[in-house]
Amino acid sequence: MADAGTSIIPEAEYKDVVKGLAPALLEDIKASGTLVVRGVVPERKALQWLEDTKQYIAQNPQVKGFPEDDKAVFELWSKAQLEARSCSESLKVQRFLLSLFNKNSAAPDDVSFSTPLTYCDRLRIRRPGDSRFALGAHVDGGSVERWEDPKYRSSYKAILEGRWTEHDAWDIGGRPTAKQNLYDGPGACGIFRAFQGWTSLSHTGPGEGTLKVFPAIKESTAYIILRPFFKANQLKTSLPQQAYLDPSNWSLDLDSPDFPGSPIGRSQELNDETHPHLRLNETLLPMKAVKPGDQVWWHCDGIHAVESEHKGANPSSVLYIPSVPLTEANARYVKDQQVHYQQRIPPPDFPGGEGEKFFEGTGGDADIVTEQGKQTMGLAPLSLEGIDSSEKLLRQKVNKIWGF
Ligand SMILES: [Fe+2]
Repeated sequence: MADAGTSIIPEAEYKDVVKGLAPALLEDIKASGTLVVRGVVPERKALQWLEDTKQYIAQNPQVKGFPEDDKAVFELWSKAQLEARSCSESLKVQRFLLSLFNKNSAAPDDVSFSTPLTYCDRLRIRRPGDSRFALGAHVDGGSVERWEDPKYRSSYKAILEGRWTEHDAWDIGGRPTAKQNLYDGPGACGIFRAFQGWTSLSHTGPGEGTLKVFPAIKESTAYIILRPFFKANQLKTSLPQQAYLDPSNWSLDLDSPDFPGSPIGRSQELNDETHPHLRLNETLLPMKAVKPGDQVWWHCDGIHAVESEHKGANPSSVLYIPSVPLTEANARYVKDQQVHYQQRIPPPDFPGGEGEKFFEGTGGDADIVTEQGKQTMGLAPLSLEGIDSSEKLLRQKVNKIWGF
């Protein structure tokens, strides 16, 4: 994998995603757990979104962002974000991604993959030379929760029973009803995202402050889940690297309470100390070059990081837009989010404040450009016509939660 480099990351043209991808490519996507979709929106449209957003930020200098003295990450109700989330192209890709999952081990009305919901996330405009917006290797969706919460844990049953090759990363398992945030950690996500993703607003390639991924989803998940149950007989400092990693240096450890890289209330963290066999320094691959309008996606159990430095010449800009399945818990978050949207205050997951109440040129209903986009925001009821019975039951529950 390390030798193959970035080329190993699968990619597809948007128009082919709509037509239906070849089985071999679908297999590649399922094996890697990551994907680039090319040309989801035309380049000029994505560049316009960036221009509009920059102008909106400039027009409202009181805008909050992180880091405070050189803002790169923003939580906004900008017109561009509302349009990008609700445009039919974006929703089609989200639905395609959800369709990769099955519910072999989930109750039929726990989750629907045909109705994505909208999670209003941040946007990033990272300037060249920046080295502050780096993120070490991690997996979102909590840390010890993967073992501690019975529902969450059930998603990894085959691995925990010693049958890791039978683990189906695409069986949604207990995730739709799992507690991914048992310790109310800061920065936790209030919604279950099946895929994390972003829409690029710039030309960005390896070395330019981009995402890094570990494109082998079954293998990395099996290693992460089994890691707490093994310990090294001899420490790294006392052995050459090869001998340290050799299976003969590791024994089963069912007694120690250690969960390497699993801090309470945070994401699962990984590095060469906590997860040495992953050899992350070589295997974490930078995302291949993208242009404005391309989207980058990674599975909810996927290891990812953000390059420590942006050595490129131009800002690397993305809109974070994940793919979120319909579940009762997700619908409840969307209801809260909708209340925040009406007041143009930051979405429930983010630090509060008065948000954009007094901004000029804030986005609104006119920027939610499709009827389905309104439904995915909880602003319109989900249709019940021509829907099968388990899906209908879930949609009815959700419409009730939303007050329709
Ligand atoms: Fe992350």
